[in-house]
Amino acid sequence: MILVVGSTGSVGGRIVRGLLGRGESVRALARPSSNHAPLSQAGAAVVFGDLTDPASLAGACRGVDTVITTATVSKTGTDTIEHVDLEGTARLIDAAREAGARHFIFVSTVGASPDAPHPLFRAKGIAEQRLRESGLAFTILQPSVFMDVWFPMLIEMPAFSGRPVTLVGQSMRRHAFIAEQDVAAFAVAAVFEPAARHATLVIGGPEAVTFRDVVRAYEEASGRAIEVRSVAPGEPIPGVPDAVSGLAAALESFDTVIPMQDLARRYGVTQTSVLDFARARVSAGRAGAR
Ligand SMILES: NC(=O)c1ccc[n+]([C@@H]2O[C@H](COP(=O)([O-])OP(=O)(O)OC[C@H]3O[C@@H](n4cnc5c(N)ncnc54)[C@H](OP(=O)(O)O)[C@@H]3O)[C@@H](O)[C@H]2O)c1
Repeated sequence: MILVVGSTGSVGGRIVRGLLGRGESVRALARPSSNHAPLSQAGAAVVFGDLTDPASLAGACRGVDTVITTATVSKTGTDTIEHVDLEGTARLIDAAREAGARHFIFVSTVGASPDAPHPLFRAKGIAEQRLRESGLAFTILQPSVFMDVWFPMLIEMPAFSGRPVTLVGQSMRRHAFIAEQDVAAFAVAAVFEPAARHATLVIGGPEAVTFRDVVRAYEEASGRAIEVRSVAPGEPIPGVPDAVSGLAAALESFDTVIPMQDLARRYGVTQTSVLDFARARVSAGRAGAR
């Protein structure tokens, strides 16, 4: 039995479906208020619980071999990062160990560190440390920046409505943007890959590109020119929350170039390129507009 925490989220839901597709028995932890019906319809056993409620975690971990967590409040802000990403993940690690689970897979982030200045990267870094010291066999996945989160916000929202795309500064930093479906594929593969035990894997997409390259991919996919403007790092980007403008500025202060060919081959993951992703989004947008 595999427990997936964060199962109602974007990556967690993909992990649940990926595991069910391989014939695995999946227990999906969901908060009672969240949209869990699609999980049971897909064949998962839904168990109600919350990372802030230790008793619910003890029950959810009972009889489980593997625990996978993607849970975060960083996208929704429904609670604090300290409360959920840090203390909640630590509670889940303790519950998994006490229940006798054999493997714990944690979707963290590239750049996670107990000393990181940003609360999310710090919380992930401390939770990673806790997991490494837990005695459990662990796999820590440190994905790069998600295409599914950043491209809609920065590129698609303006470009699909005919407005200019706003990038930060010269936008020369290169990132190995990764599709959420590929993050989920690595998490599923880690369940079955012996080399994933006691491993920390930095994972990215098949290429490292700048946001200007991403705009070019959307131009190629849509057959239309996209106007680009820029703001100074730290200046607000029109139409996106201030926190996102801040993170976009941070992305212009470092590169994430991740050689992925060998890892993808070993884990059997067919990676999504930026152009593949843009083509799929443009054609889904056209289908939605019909
Ligand atoms: N965005 C990026 O570029 C990026 C890059 C690297 C790594 N990551 C990491 O990737 C992971 C997956 O992200 P995602 O996009 O799938 O996130 P998401 O869609 O926001 O999903 C978050 C999940 O966490 C659950 N959750 C929140 N609070 C909870 C609590 N108190 N108890 C139990 N579950 C709780 C949510 O449940 P509800 O439905 O009940 O709210 C939801 O299922 C995250 O850990 C994120 O930090 C993201």
